Amino acid sequence: VNSPASPTSPFSLVEHADGLLELRFDLPGEKVNLLRADSMDALEQWLERLASRRDARLLVVTSGKPDVFVAGADVRAFATLADAASARAASRRGQTLFAKLAALPMATVAAIHGACVGGGLELALACTWRVASDERVTRLGLPEVLLGIVPGFGGTQRLPRVVGLTAALPLLLTGRLLSARAARRIGLVDEVVVAKEDLLDAARRVVSQGRLRRGPPRPPRRGARLVEALLRGVAPLRAFVLRRAAAAVRAKTGDLYPAPFAILEVVEVGYARGGGHGDAAVATGGFEREAQLLGEQLVGPVSRNLVRLFELSEAAPGSRDDARSIERAFVAGAGQMGAAIAASFAGAGVRTRLHDASSPALARGSARARDSLARRFREDRRALRDALDRFEPSAARVGLARSDLFLEAIVEQLEPKRALLAEAEAALRSGALIATNTSSLDLDALAAALARPERLVGVHFFHPVESMRLVEVVRGARTSGDAVARACGLAKRLGKVPVVVANRPGFLVNRVLAPYLLEAERLVAEGVDVVALDRTLREAGMAMGPVELLDEVGLDVALHVGDVMRAAFPSRFEDVGVVRRLVASGALGRKSGRGFYVHARTRRGAALRRPAELGATGGAVDVAEARERTLLLVVAESWRALEERVVATEDELDLAASLGAGILVPHGGPTRWGRTQGLARVVERLDAWRARLGARFDAPESLRRAAATSPSCVGPHRLDAGRTGSALRWRPST
Ligand SMILES: NC(=O)c1ccc[n+]([C@@H]2O[C@H](COP(=O)([O-])OP(=O)(O)OC[C@H]3O[C@@H](n4cnc5c(N)ncnc54)[C@H](O)[C@@H]3O)[C@@H](O)[C@H]2O)c1
Repeated sequence: VNSPASPTSPFSLVEHADGLLELRFDLPGEKVNLLRADSMDALEQWLERLASRRDARLLVVTSGKPDVFVAGADVRAFATLADAASARAASRRGQTLFAKLAALPMATVAAIHGACVGGGLELALACTWRVASDERVTRLGLPEVLLGIVPGFGGTQRLPRVVGLTAALPLLLTGRLLSARAARRIGLVDEVVVAKEDLLDAARRVVSQGRLRRGPPRPPRRGARLVEALLRGVAPLRAFVLRRAAAAVRAKTGDLYPAPFAILEVVEVGYARGGGHGDAAVATGGFEREAQLLGEQLVGPVSRNLVRLFELSEAAPGSRDDARSIERAFVAGAGQMGAAIAASFAGAGVRTRLHDASSPALARGSARARDSLARRFREDRRALRDALDRFEPSAARVGLARSDLFLEAIVEQLEPKRALLAEAEAALRSGALIATNTSSLDLDALAAALARPERLVGVHFFHPVESMRLVEVVRGARTSGDAVARACGLAKRLGKVPVVVANRPGFLVNRVLAPYLLEAERLVAEGVDVVALDRTLREAGMAMGPVELLDEVGLDVALHVGDVMRAAFPSRFEDVGVVRRLVASGALGRKSGRGFYVHARTRRGAALRRPAELGATGGAVDVAEARERTLLLVVAESWRALEERVVATEDELDLAASLGAGILVPHGGPTRWGRTQGLARVVERLDAWRARLGARFDAPESLRRAAATSPSCVGPHRLDAGRTGSALRWRPST
């Protein structure tokens, strides 16, 4: 080990006896390796020295962190880039640095164990070869698109060169992460070994097996190689593939997110104008355009909003340690939710018993839980076996005394839940946590059934549990701080994002969704064109239009939630009756094949739907007005929820609303959207609608006050991140 290493240097060089050089990345003071300015400077110093090491045949880049290779650029630093020019310069810096790595005189191998994402994968792509460990923590990908940006350290140019265009596009456009084996299949890694200890030998093997060569790598499989050669040579064919990819993006998210389109553009520039693998390449078209687009996007509103939501999700409360003591869980109710929740527990290392009062329901639920685990661990048989070993269906309510957590997900009715909770408490040991997945019942009314109500906490999962990352942790009047902390820790352990909410009707997500759905019901009664309404709200940034969302959640469920909201807030949520009539006629939405839409499938299984005949006049309502009404009501309800302290801050509200219901995600969530519109304008429009349509458009007092202090449009915003990234606050740029 020698200089320029100092004890605080992020990189050190180890010279092995057989001449192999190991460049080890271990960023001091951080749990993960990040490509910050200091680590990049240190890397550059090493690369300059290594450039003259003509004696060495092989350089292997490794990580000194236990479970991370390189986690990419430091997202917290994005906020310090004040304008497009400095963001572009940061990208150029990474590109030139990795070009130096690519131009080293010896063969280079990235030895990957743990997360190898974003800039980390771009570093690995600049190596000649990549070997990876076949362990669960090893994940490779370019998730930049999820932060609203193109990868900026050469990834858009190198990934297609290594794996071919057809394999590169899905990775670039979805940000999906791959296991080592999946990466091997597309040629992203050259060899997979069982354990991290085998990586150096694998690196030696890969190089010595005569696979050593310099210059741009080629996609691995012969078929893929042929396709890639065609795509490279025949521009119209390439244009066709890229156009189809753009159409697929547009069909999914319209034009809301600029990054995927920018990725397609910069990939094409790379093909059309070249951009090789080495040092000189960085000067050419594709790399230059990559840096330029990254610069523009990084300071643009969509990326700022997505980065803020990402940082907020990272800073969510609770730590896995708080839930480490939860080794055994008992889940009561094996329905849609209970089965999926039990599967997620077992998948996260908790011994889980799933119980249902009905044996057919238990059998069905257990089968669903096992299927869910099989899907999740389809690439890792060992992990699947372990997870299945931890999962146990149980027809009798036994084993409670050994459980650290009891969670009920039975029918949504107060008395059965109260009875079950009381019986369970009597059998549980005193330290066990008691949780309910209720979505609409009063937590305090449930807690009243317990001898020690402070142990009960709401742990509200969303459907489908496998993919919905939000968990509302509901704090009742008597819930203890310890119970809240353990529930948050549990959510983290499951890979979810906890948001602590107060025990108010609808908690947070259903609370802000209610006016969205109920105003849509009213608009249907007025004769709005439902297809146009759904489309305009999707274009406005809602993940789903309100009518299609009603059909998706089920009209019976929507009616129940509506009734809860009407009981709590009668002046705002009147019953229009359309949903009630549909439910009475057996139309429950997609699950029954009929709701506001008629749902069918084509012969090839694709979903098909057309608006149902509802006897409304149709088209009588102006769609732009309809859109304004629904969005304004969502914003007003958000401020009401803040007023009632359902959540503590606008940040938490936006985080929960975006993760739990896809509300205005590219705009940063409902309060951020309101502020971008200008709160004075929001209030003015609410007042105008109040004059026309009545009291449900009342602007809440807190919104009026906020409008008075921060009236005008404040975007674009600057993220003012604290040192740890946890104390995030937005302030308008001047
Ligand atoms: N479905 C959703 O989208 C959703 C979302 C979030 C929360 N929730 C909440 O989750 C809970 C369960 O919802 P679901 O949709 O899975 O319901 P479900 O009807 O699919 O399943 C409920 C199950 O509980 C069983 N059950 C009833 N009484 C029982 C008892 N005393 N002991 C043991 N099992 C009993 C039933 O046999 C049934 O299998 C409800 O509180 C619901 O509000 C549902």
